[in-house]
Amino acid sequence: MKESKPFQFEYALTFDDILLIPKYSEIVPSEVSTTTDFARGLKLNTPIISSAMDTVTENKVARIMAQLGGLGVIHKNFTVADQAFEVEKVKKYESGMILDPITLGPDQMVTAALELMKKYSISGVPVTVKGKLVGILTNRDLRFETKLNQPISNLMTKEKLVTAHVGTTLEQARKILQKHRIEKLPVVDKAGNLKGLITIKDIEKSHAFPQATKDSHGRLMVAAAIGVGEGAYERAEALIASGADVIVIDTAHGHSKNVLEMVKRLSKNFKDTILVAGNVVSEEGTKALIDAGADVVKVGVGPGSICTTRVVAGVGMPQISAVIECSKYAKRKGKTIIADGGIKYSGDMTKALALGANTVMIGNLLAGADEAPGENILYQGRSYKVYRGMGSLGAMAQGSKDRYGQADVYDEEKLVPEGIEGKVPYKGSASAIIHQLVGGLRAGMGYMGARNISELQKDPRFVQISPQGLRESHVHDVSITKEAPNYRLE
Ligand code: XMP
Repeated sequence: MKESKPFQFEYALTFDDILLIPKYSEIVPSEVSTTTDFARGLKLNTPIISSAMDTVTENKVARIMAQLGGLGVIHKNFTVADQAFEVEKVKKYESGMILDPITLGPDQMVTAALELMKKYSISGVPVTVKGKLVGILTNRDLRFETKLNQPISNLMTKEKLVTAHVGTTLEQARKILQKHRIEKLPVVDKAGNLKGLITIKDIEKSHAFPQATKDSHGRLMVAAAIGVGEGAYERAEALIASGADVIVIDTAHGHSKNVLEMVKRLSKNFKDTILVAGNVVSEEGTKALIDAGADVVKVGVGPGSICTTRVVAGVGMPQISAVIECSKYAKRKGKTIIADGGIKYSGDMTKALALGANTVMIGNLLAGADEAPGENILYQGRSYKVYRGMGSLGAMAQGSKDRYGQADVYDEEKLVPEGIEGKVPYKGSASAIIHQLVGGLRAGMGYMGARNISELQKDPRFVQISPQGLRESHVHDVSITKEAPNYRLE
């Protein structure tokens, strides 16, 4: 068979075309580490990222993804202010220490305190004068108070205030809180200035999610998407100002002038922010993005379950081949890639990671989660959630036109969609979904004798299978009477 240049393979391959060949193994799934390199030394304990789609990732999915050791990318079909607020909600959700606690002054009225506590759903507020801690007002102080028009200073705890010094670890803080049977611990410097607040809630959350992806201040990490249309650079500025750790330049064609220019501009001006850019499927595209300054290259044109790019535009590349080609180049340059789209089962993730991806991005598998945007819809007695492509007419009309190079089309009837709007079965909690995906990956790594992702990527052998092989792989000659949480028929 003639080789099809510039690829080394005779046919471009997708997930269903191949199987990894099991290797000698001395380990069981529970022993493997799924930790992977994301970028610039940042590791993720779970190699899964949720898609920047308006039916997948808003603050709730981003939060749980980070808690479970992955990462979520907040979509951009929001106004700049609303998207920035979604980022802020993730950053403020769980903190080792709250760096900028909400405070009150001693002369403010109790009514103002109650309003503030309700607005931010908090149960206690440090009281300061010119930055110096003078007391703390908690629900306990207010519980039986009926006189609301008196200053806070009358009710706040000010004697024998329990505080911690800057540098107190969460473990030390837990002991102090326990000893004094309190829930909030103000952190002060030597001069008595309030420097932060540690709460029992945050400590409990960090115990519940030991795998979580966190920044150096103990806050959950979050990514946010931008495009390349008008205002995209300003959007990135606002997202970074609200605490986004990662900016994803999310377009359907990453190997294009506007995208490369945006990557150059952002990488030059925001050196502390991890920059992901895409999507590409070729070595040339990967090289161009890396040369422009991307830390991570997002790979995939058309594999997504809701994508119609390949049939509408006639372009793309089956995803396994794209992953092999792009990851080879990125690895040589010390960079990483995300395999974006087309993951239908946990085994697809094992294949993508074994063949070079550092992480995978999923949309479909998470769109049915409780935490995904949108209500459940009941259809013929079963529960579903909406899942639509960012290139669908509905999503493009709401702001994602520039992902498909159609920012200049103002008449909705003239938009040319590259995705569809649909529904996926309701699947319960995101953490149950991720548990099954990671469980499948662990099983695969056990079969491959791989203790970690780099061992999984060491000389994996795979076979190409026939349509009959694929049929044999799936459930056959039987009707399913009880659905498994990690398998469904198309
Ligand atoms: P899955 O297979 O998880 O894929 O549903 C999600 C990925 O698909 C991409 N995406 C699109 N691609 N038209 C496309 O060609 C679209 O309308 C569309 N919407 C999303 C995106 O990369 C996502 O992560």
